[in-house]
Amino acid sequence: MSIVYDKAQKTLTLHTKNTTYQMQIDRYGFLLHLYYGKRADGCMDYLLTFYDRGFSGNPYDAGKDKTYSMDALPQEFPSLGTGDYRTPACIIKNTDRTYSSDFRYVSHSIREGKYSLKGLPAVYADDSVAQTLEVVLEDRVSKVRAVLLYGVLPEYDVITRSVKIVNASAGHISVKKLAPACLDMVSGEYDFITFYGRHAMERNYQRLPVGHGVSKIGSLRGTSSHQYNPAVILAERETTEEAGGCYAMSFVYSGGFQSEAGMDQYCQTRVLMGLCEEQFAYPLEPDEEFQAPEVILSYSSEGLGRLSQNLHRCMRAHLCRGKYKETVRPVLLNSWEAFYFDFTGDALLKLAEQAAALGIEMFVMDDGWFGNRDSELRGLGDWEVNEEKLGCTLGELSGKINAMGLKFGIWIEPEMVNEDSELYREHPDWAFVIPGRRPNRSRHQLVLDFSRKEVVDYIYEKICAVLDQGNVEYIKWDMNRSIADVYSATGDSQGRVLYDYVLGLYDFLERIVQRYPDILIEGCSGGGGRFDAGMLYYTPQIWCSDNTDAIDRLEIQYGTSFIYPVSSVGSHVSASPNHQTGRVTSMKTRGVAATAGTFGYELNLNELSDEEKEEIRGQIKEYKKHARLVQQGLYYRLTNPQSADTGAWEFVSEDGREALVQAVTIKQHANMEVSYIKPRGLRENTVYRETESGRKYNSTALMEAGIPVPVEQGEYRAYQWHFVLEDENGRK
Ligand code: GLA
Repeated sequence: MSIVYDKAQKTLTLHTKNTTYQMQIDRYGFLLHLYYGKRADGCMDYLLTFYDRGFSGNPYDAGKDKTYSMDALPQEFPSLGTGDYRTPACIIKNTDRTYSSDFRYVSHSIREGKYSLKGLPAVYADDSVAQTLEVVLEDRVSKVRAVLLYGVLPEYDVITRSVKIVNASAGHISVKKLAPACLDMVSGEYDFITFYGRHAMERNYQRLPVGHGVSKIGSLRGTSSHQYNPAVILAERETTEEAGGCYAMSFVYSGGFQSEAGMDQYCQTRVLMGLCEEQFAYPLEPDEEFQAPEVILSYSSEGLGRLSQNLHRCMRAHLCRGKYKETVRPVLLNSWEAFYFDFTGDALLKLAEQAAALGIEMFVMDDGWFGNRDSELRGLGDWEVNEEKLGCTLGELSGKINAMGLKFGIWIEPEMVNEDSELYREHPDWAFVIPGRRPNRSRHQLVLDFSRKEVVDYIYEKICAVLDQGNVEYIKWDMNRSIADVYSATGDSQGRVLYDYVLGLYDFLERIVQRYPDILIEGCSGGGGRFDAGMLYYTPQIWCSDNTDAIDRLEIQYGTSFIYPVSSVGSHVSASPNHQTGRVTSMKTRGVAATAGTFGYELNLNELSDEEKEEIRGQIKEYKKHARLVQQGLYYRLTNPQSADTGAWEFVSEDGREALVQAVTIKQHANMEVSYIKPRGLRENTVYRETESGRKYNSTALMEAGIPVPVEQGEYRAYQWHFVLEDENGRK
């Protein structure tokens, strides 16, 4: 049993293979948090301390006891109004227009399998893999209920959390703030690891101490955003890649979010992950309920590397879906950086021919194939194939591409509209525009109101009509601006629109996934602007960044790897000089950087020399040799490319018999010192053979002393070592 209720102690304990999470229903019915960490048995309520603390008030039930205060006790679901003055997980505006909630335990139930959430993405697992705990809390005065959900996946060291607010009162209420995950730590000093960024430079790793005051990250953009990723790590101060305690929180949601971390006046730490508070006030009439998205939690006592691996394994197997979730993805060529908007059907076919000749497996036609979409200025919303530009129908185009031995894929951006489009001229009220105000334009486009079902239905029909015209086996699902001017013509409650928008998006995606179960969907939002666990439920891969520069990608992919599996990271070899940075790198370096992802190409093959083409042929063969290991192996970060001279990482098979170490030099000086890269995860004191050189190595020496990176002239050189277990007994 992974979930245990101890009646005598009134504890609820969640066990995974290596971790334990415990809470207690205390004497007044508050649900207190006791412990989350390394696996342990017994009752941890001795961790609760009670002192008379000035200005930390006491619930009425405590009578004359001045030592009992919600302001100091660790809680599972802290709300505003109990005398806890820390940042709350929940604020509700009650029927009587007050903002206090006082949630107390009512009941709990334990069941096999993992709960699912209606209309929302969530980790899924059957009875043999997961258990669910549901705890019902109630405010006895307002009659508002909070139903806490915990999913436990023991083999993955993962616990998920969600919450549903039920309005059992007789009047109207609104949910003003909701964070489904809260972690209260009574002791310890922590760092808050977050991933900040911007368009074309996403998920930069930042590690700052949690101090007094609240550090907050989030997105007000209506999407998870380039600016901050909806995932955070709380790490003990001394924690490294290989050692120390750390906690991850990854929000399974693609809209606005916020995460707050801070130390309270008694030096206790609270971390929250939940919905963005701005423009949020979700109205609930009597008997209505609001379901928050879930948060994936994991704890590792063995450092950040292990924490990431827990998340990767769980997301790959229990969040991603469909035929491609655990299989090697086709090597694709995308037309965007080859042609941008400037192509004809013939040009596409010529490019596809080259692709087929080099061993590429799928051809993706990016933006520019529909309506009068010949630039950013127009066409979005008009999902009609531009047969004049293509010189044929979509069916003919995909047929010709299939005949070359290639799969065919297509780009779409369903949530958007240009003012210069038939759709906008016909339905101007379908776009987010506030009456009386002029809207914010971004990339010359407006956002369609996906909180409205008729809008979603209309675009869905249009997109299906396109997909049905040809043999489409891949979709790149784009979203190229942040949301502004939030106004839905449907009702007065504008505080629900952004959330309903995300539900509309999920409904659309779910319908596509059900109708076309074999289509591989790659998420995208100006690159990695919507790279989150919510999207992974529908799109098992996401275009990681519009920045295809191999050296910048080292940092972007480094940050991404803390949370998301390599199998989800869209990564391509593009032209040199790179289109975003102008940097010149070798084909080999670009190939090595793209290997730490889904691997593909994004350049005009017709402009390459014969030598370069030959190199690509070899590169694809090399990638295919290791693809399974890359997609399914355990991922190790060996250096931090933000500061190291060399970026290095490694894939190790789960059984430890095979490893691929890759490295790219970042800094170049005369007469350089030598960098040593230390592989990890090999079986101790055994012999591994490096397959390229045939040389044999003792694994312990390799891991302890490392392997020297050659000192050679030239910038940004790439290296790779492929080790296979040769002799279990450690002899040469
Ligand atoms: C976004 C994507 C690009 C490309 C363009 C097309 O920026 O991230 O890869 O598809 O849109 O307009």
